[in-house]
Amino acid sequence: MQWQPSYALGIDEIDQQHQKLLTHAAEIIGAIQQEQSWSDIYYLIEALRKFASFHFQFEEALMRMFGYPEHDGHARSHESFFTRLAALDRQAIHKLEINVVQMLTDWVMNHILCSDRDYGEYLKRIPGISLRTGRA
Ligand SMILES: [Fe+2]
Ligand SMILES: [Fe+2]
Repeated sequence: MQWQPSYALGIDEIDQQHQKLLTHAAEIIGAIQQEQSWSDIYYLIEALRKFASFHFQFEEALMRMFGYPEHDGHARSHESFFTRLAALDRQAIHKLEINVVQMLTDWVMNHILCSDRDYGEYLKRIPGISLRTGRA
């Protein structure tokens, strides 16, 4: 999954975190393709889990800080990511299939393009917000 400029919300910090999230997922797919050991793959799944956890907490903190009305539903959506990730854990010890990782990546992309875009637009409408928005 290649990052495209059209995926950007226009908030630099968040866009960088999203690129990193997709890179973590792509590394798992790359490791499967290279037939790396399950322990190496598990390590990459852990790296994705840690980064996703950081990223979701970062987003939820921003939403709380600026009173985003859909915070609770968005946080539940983040929780569902970890349920999906648990399926990867279970498979990794046997044989992790690329399509399972791809499904998780598709979920992330869909979340970025729909749910995250929505709070991004909300944040960018707040007067005087200090986040860099990528605008000149
Ligand atoms: Fe996000
Ligand atoms: Fe999100």
